[in-house]
Amino acid sequence: MEDFVRIFDTTLRDGEQSPGATMTLEEKLRIARKLDAMGVDVIEAGFPAASPGELRSVQQVAAAVHTAEVAALCRTREGDIRAAWEAIREAAHPRLHVFIATSDIHLEHKLRMTRAQVLEEIRFGVSLCRELCDSVEFSAEDATRSDLDFLCEAFRVAVDCGATVVNVPDTVGYTMPHEYDTIIRRVVATVGPDVVVSTHCHNDLGLAVANSLAAIAAGARQVEGCINGIGERAGNAAIEEVVMALSVRRELMGVGTRVDSRQLVAVSRMVRDCTGLTVQPNKAIVGRNAFAHEAGIHQHGMLANTLTYEIMRPEDVGWTASNLVLGKHSGKHALRARLVELGFQLDDAELGVAFDRFKRLCDRKKVIYDEDLYTLVADAQDHQAVYTLEAILFQSGSGMLPTATATVKEHAQVHSAAATGDGPVHAAIEAIRRCVGADDVVLEDFHLDAITGGSDAQGKVHVRVREGDLVAHGQASDTDIVVASAKAFVAALNHLAFLSSRVSEIAQASELRLAARGV
Ligand code: KIV
Ligand code: ZN
Repeated sequence: MEDFVRIFDTTLRDGEQSPGATMTLEEKLRIARKLDAMGVDVIEAGFPAASPGELRSVQQVAAAVHTAEVAALCRTREGDIRAAWEAIREAAHPRLHVFIATSDIHLEHKLRMTRAQVLEEIRFGVSLCRELCDSVEFSAEDATRSDLDFLCEAFRVAVDCGATVVNVPDTVGYTMPHEYDTIIRRVVATVGPDVVVSTHCHNDLGLAVANSLAAIAAGARQVEGCINGIGERAGNAAIEEVVMALSVRRELMGVGTRVDSRQLVAVSRMVRDCTGLTVQPNKAIVGRNAFAHEAGIHQHGMLANTLTYEIMRPEDVGWTASNLVLGKHSGKHALRARLVELGFQLDDAELGVAFDRFKRLCDRKKVIYDEDLYTLVADAQDHQAVYTLEAILFQSGSGMLPTATATVKEHAQVHSAAATGDGPVHAAIEAIRRCVGADDVVLEDFHLDAITGGSDAQGKVHVRVREGDLVAHGQASDTDIVVASAKAFVAALNHLAFLSSRVSEIAQASELRLAARGV
C-alpha cells in the first residue's frame, strides 16, 4: 500500500471548542465540503452525544461528504457510541472515534477508575464500535502523561478488540518532540504494521506542529489538527503547516499527504469567516504577510531569484499572484469557474444570488478580487438569516452630530429607526440596535481590514458581540466602511439568533464536554 500521511481534520469538533467559535449548520457544511474537495482523509464532524442538535448536524455533514471518511466522537459508554453511529451510519465512509483517558491524573481525578476498569471500558467500547463500523479509531486521552507501559497495554487491548487506528493525543500540549518520538516508536512497535498510529497535538507550548512532525518521523501515519490551528485553549496542530512542511521537506521526511495544497488559503479564509477567529498576519502559510518581503535586502534577493528567500511559491498554497479575477463584463460561467477554482460548490439558486450580488458590486468596483468573492459566496450560502439589512442612511461631517437611519427586515416584518452616535459607524449600529430591540447586545470587538488596494478598496469589518454568556461574530465587506460595519453587525445579530435558538443545547453540550474532560 502507498505510504502516506492521512490528514484528519477536527476543525468542526475540536476547533469548534475554541471559545466563541460555535458555527451554524450552513457554515459547518460549507467547511466540510471544502475539506472534502481539497482531499483531507478524515473529517471529524462532532460529538453527537452532546445534544440532539449536534447529532443532526453530524448527520448532515455525513450526508454532504462523499470522499473523506466522516468521524464521530464518543466516549466508551453505550449511549455515546449509539448516538455517534446514528449520526454517521449513512456516510459514504463512516468512522467511529472512541476515547477514554489513560493517565493516572485522569483516572484518579476525573474517571475515578482503576487501570483494570479502564481496560474493561476500552474492551467494551471498541468492541461495540467495531460491531457497528469497520473503521474504528481509539484515542487514549492524555496519552503523553500516561505511564508508557499502561498506554501500550491499552492500545493492545483496543487493537485486539478491532481498532484500526490508535491515536496518541497530547491533550494538554505538554510533550516535547524527542519525548513524543520515544512514545510513538513504542506504540508503533506495539500495534504492528496493520494499524495506523495517529497524532493529536495541542499547542499549549507552541509545539503542536513540531510534535506532529516528530511523530511522523517516528512512524505515525495520521495527523489530527485544525485549519488555522484553532481549537481548545492554544489550539491544535495547524493542518496547513503540517501539509506544507511535508510537501516542502518531502525528501527529508520521505512521506507526503494527499491534500491539494493550493486550496489551503481558501479554506483558511472560510474557517476564519465562519468562526470569527482572525488569522494573525505573520501566521505561517495563510497569514497575509506569509509571503510579503519588506526589507530591502530581501527584495533585492527576491528580484534576483525567488529561491533566495522563498522555500515555497505563494501559488502552491493558493495565493494567486495578483488576485485580480473578474470585472463587470464577466458572466455567470466565469463567476462559477472562478468559484470552483477557489473550491466553492454552489447550487444554481446560490449561484444566482451570488451573481446578482456580483453584478451590484461591479457597479461600484472596477475589479473584483478573490477576497470579494469569499464574502459574496458566504452571503449567498447563508439561508438562515433572521435579519436582513434593507437600507442604511447616514450623515456626518465636521460640526454636526452623526446620525443614521436603518431599515431591517426581521423575517417578513420591516423595522426602521434612527439614532445618533459618536461617529457614523456608532450611529448606524445604534439605529440597527433600535430596529431589532437588541438593547442587551454589547459590542465587544470591532476591527476593520482593507482587503484590496485602490481607492475602491473593500473594507472588511469584523465584529464580536455578547449577550449574557453568548458570544457571536459577524463580518461583512463593502466599499463603504459604514455600510460594511452595519452589515457586519447584522451578521453578528443573525449568529446570535442562531446561538440563542440553541442555547440550552449549547449549554448542555459544553457541560458534557467539560464533564468528558473532567473539569
Ligand atoms: O485532546 C484530546 O485528547 C482529544 C481527544 C478526544 C482525541 O481531543
Ligand atoms: Zn483535542
